[in-house]
Amino acid sequence: MKTKALILAAGQGTRMKSNKAKVLHKVFDKALVEYPILAANHIGAKEICIIVGHQAEEVKKALGDQISYALQKEQLGTGHAVMQAIDFIDDDGEVLILYGDTPLITGETLEKMLTFHRTNKNAATVLSAIVDEPTGYGRIVRNENNEFIKIVEQKDASTSEKEIREINGGMYVFEAGLLKYALTKLTNNNVQKEYYLTDTLEILLAQGHKIDAVPAEDANEILGVNSREQLAEVTDIMRRRINAYHMINGVTIVDPANTYIGSSVKIGKDTIIEPGCIIEGNTTIGEGCHIGFHSKIRNSVIGEHVDIEMSVITDSFIDEGTHVGPFAYLRPHSHLGKNIKIGDFVEIKNANIGDGTKVSHLTYIGDADVGKNVNFGCGTVVVNYDGAKKHRTTIEDNAFIGCNTNLIAPVTVEEAAYTAAGSTITKTVPKNSLGIARARQENKEEWVTKKRKK
Ligand code: UD1
Ligand code: CA
Repeated sequence: MKTKALILAAGQGTRMKSNKAKVLHKVFDKALVEYPILAANHIGAKEICIIVGHQAEEVKKALGDQISYALQKEQLGTGHAVMQAIDFIDDDGEVLILYGDTPLITGETLEKMLTFHRTNKNAATVLSAIVDEPTGYGRIVRNENNEFIKIVEQKDASTSEKEIREINGGMYVFEAGLLKYALTKLTNNNVQKEYYLTDTLEILLAQGHKIDAVPAEDANEILGVNSREQLAEVTDIMRRRINAYHMINGVTIVDPANTYIGSSVKIGKDTIIEPGCIIEGNTTIGEGCHIGFHSKIRNSVIGEHVDIEMSVITDSFIDEGTHVGPFAYLRPHSHLGKNIKIGDFVEIKNANIGDGTKVSHLTYIGDADVGKNVNFGCGTVVVNYDGAKKHRTTIEDNAFIGCNTNLIAPVTVEEAAYTAAGSTITKTVPKNSLGIARARQENKEEWVTKKRKK
């Protein structure tokens, strides 16, 4: 069955009081609109079209061209929004309709809605929710046999209809051809003078088609974001949900209220995450790791039994048994092997570091290839930038870099070679040799005594 997805995201979001399009505001590492896209991907929706309006260009730019877009110049209602994508809708198959500002919807819930839709051979199925506070939402009106009759908007509802606690979540699956047909019959004959997508349901019902609504098990899944307060609320629910998932799968999260993990992060069992950590993007952390207090990790792959203390790691790879921090900064394309020690105030960028190497303190390694079991003394600087170009440095296995060495790239320290402390190395240091590049010490004896006498 071919299922396409349409995501409505043309609204302005006035209550956000923002210069940025509402659907581009973030819940953790992803924009609001990315969550329904992921949920649609989960149920195998092959093609996705976003209805854009306010700040259309910004939204397109943020999401890229793997998705198609339809422009709704004026926001004349949810039905009008869907009409703008009429060319995207096929004559057969299914169309899933989602909102760009409803990030808590899950693929699992959409799957259940689809199964319900297909099993009952419905023309359209509405995702509803049973809530205690229905004000503001469209209500699902049913007859005495509990059959779906229509959806009535808050502003059009009678006093008794306002009592209904089953509300329209705004997400649907339609038989594509029937949706297309019903759209041609829509009018804006209502209090808000809008083209209501919800009216298509009544139109199809009147033609003898089957329409029904199925409540989401968790009513939170239909929560929309209209204000900064709701953004925080949704973020809170998302955090609990993601952290619960990891804890169920064997991860210790010391303080779940204060741990922020993005929805695409994978974490192995027996890993311990201390308070204040932010773990984002496509990060994978292996089993038995220790991620210490206030670490921030983004788009990185961390092997098993890695120990990280209060460090920032971006777009990097760390192999098993390696220790990082406290206060280390691994910038993009840092590739660390096994059983390495990266200590405090060490910055690494675009560099490969071999197994067993120690970089214990106060060191910068940029654009370098470092072998195995190399020891860096305190205060080493790889001088990778000459003001115009970046150059690479090579340090071979078992080398020993003395404290406060400057390595002026491009330069090589060969296997098992040493550099003397305080050296500025500009030429290759050959295998098994010592490179010294500093002025010899001269002692002026009794210099101080003479000075005092003057
Ligand atoms: C709609 C439903 C209502 C439901 C509620 C759930 C209709 C007529 N009503 O309410 O039954 O309970 O959602 O949240 O469908 N949008 C556009 N273009 C438009 C109008 C809206 O793209 O012209 C987008 C908005 O950006 C938003 C979504 O559609 O993402 C919902 O719009 P909103 O105005 O919040 O929904 P309502 O019409 O109030
Ligand atoms: Ca609304």
